[in-house]
Amino acid sequence: MPRTKSSASKRVPRKRKQIQSIKGMHDILPMDSKYWEVFFDKIRAISHTYDYRYMETPVLEKSELFKRAIGDDTDIVSKEMYTFKDKSNENLTLRPEWTASFMRAYIENGLAHQSQPVKVYTHGPLFRRENPQAGRYRQFHQANFEVIGSEKPVMDAELIFVGWNFLKQLGLKDIIVKINSIGTPDSRKEYIDVLVNYFASKKSALNADQKKRLKNNPLRLLDSKDKKLKTLVEQAPQSIDYLDDESHEHFKSVLEFLDEVEVTYQLDHTLVRGLDYYSRTTFEFFAVDPKTGEHSLALGGGGRYDYLAAELGDKSEETAAAAGMALGSERIIEYMKDNGIKPPEEMEIDVYLVQLGELAKKKSLKLFHSLVESGLVAKQSFNRDSIKSQLKQADKNNAKVALILGQKEALEDTILIRDMESGIQEVIPVKNIAQEVRNRIEKGTIIKKKSKK
Ligand code: HAM
Repeated sequence: MPRTKSSASKRVPRKRKQIQSIKGMHDILPMDSKYWEVFFDKIRAISHTYDYRYMETPVLEKSELFKRAIGDDTDIVSKEMYTFKDKSNENLTLRPEWTASFMRAYIENGLAHQSQPVKVYTHGPLFRRENPQAGRYRQFHQANFEVIGSEKPVMDAELIFVGWNFLKQLGLKDIIVKINSIGTPDSRKEYIDVLVNYFASKKSALNADQKKRLKNNPLRLLDSKDKKLKTLVEQAPQSIDYLDDESHEHFKSVLEFLDEVEVTYQLDHTLVRGLDYYSRTTFEFFAVDPKTGEHSLALGGGGRYDYLAAELGDKSEETAAAAGMALGSERIIEYMKDNGIKPPEEMEIDVYLVQLGELAKKKSLKLFHSLVESGLVAKQSFNRDSIKSQLKQADKNNAKVALILGQKEALEDTILIRDMESGIQEVIPVKNIAQEVRNRIEKGTIIKKKSKK
């Protein structure tokens, strides 16, 4: 499409350096709007079905919140946070995830006094200074769900089922849920001792970074992406063998619920997740690449975090048990585009308003408003002048009817109604046009007299 030169563009000096977006941050463009809108619409619809209510927290939080919740030794906190001092010398961080903020808000706003559990969802941007690559950005979006105030396994299963169903509704087929249980902090102590002994006995196979991990956060050795560590990790002791009885029962129950709703899951003892607040259930969603049969990047993930409230200073006698999950918007949309999954069609258009000439254009604004007000699904392109290009748009939008207002019609208070399928047109009075169009669409007879074509 040629760019239209405006008088403003002629005035801009030519030699100014073009400003680019920040590395790892990207624009969402109108060409992709259908994917994003379908994403939002379905998130909203499924949240309402399962009774999750909308909630939002600030983009900026005190850095301490994420340090305490996610953990100092995680990649997110040690390497990836956008942290800065504001003018009052306070350390602030652009949120790298939602869970810590939601739990802060739950405690701070006394949501424990509302009916429990508090089930909430949201969608929005998050910031992690990762190395940008396909599916990994420095600003990205998540649809996030949290259930705060319940330790019941059915809630873990519901979250997984909501994520699973959402992905299916978008048209993704081969989805796998990987799942694990990492027990409670108490039951994990014994497991971590065993794990440290195991890796310590193979220390020569570890590089410097991995040796540091072994000291600071041994669980994270299990989700190492290093291929050299693969066999070692596969043969490592498994957390589910060290669960306390209650955690064992809890995990068994989550799996039984998933069996009941026929969610395809795979037990994966390496799934410890990159955030320290998890206890018991951890899970991630993957889609199989139809070309390679493999699955690599997680489309979403989550788990239970029964001890986060206490970690964040909740003073209640019984702090809130909770679970949640987040779905990565960019990764899901990229998967759809890469695999030719088209977003479900938009709403059918009833009527497309076409105008020709100055007087007609002037009258069209009001006329269009009356069509929309009447409940008809209407579209227009006031910016276009040619009748041909407007009719092309009507066709592209699959409109049932086009209403054409020309100079003559505008003067005579008439309008042309055109059946977009047959191309047959008829001149009718413009008065009560919305009701007339509605009647004709309902009856399926758009044109009464076969007048013009
Ligand atoms: P997470 O696994 O860090 O979990 O992120 C969830 C999803 O966000 C990932 O599976 C991925 O799809 C997407 N994602 C993460 N980082 C990036 C990135 N740099 N670029 C693009 N997409 C990304 C959490 O954030 C937890 N707060 C989830 C949760 C909620 N747990 C309990 N409640």
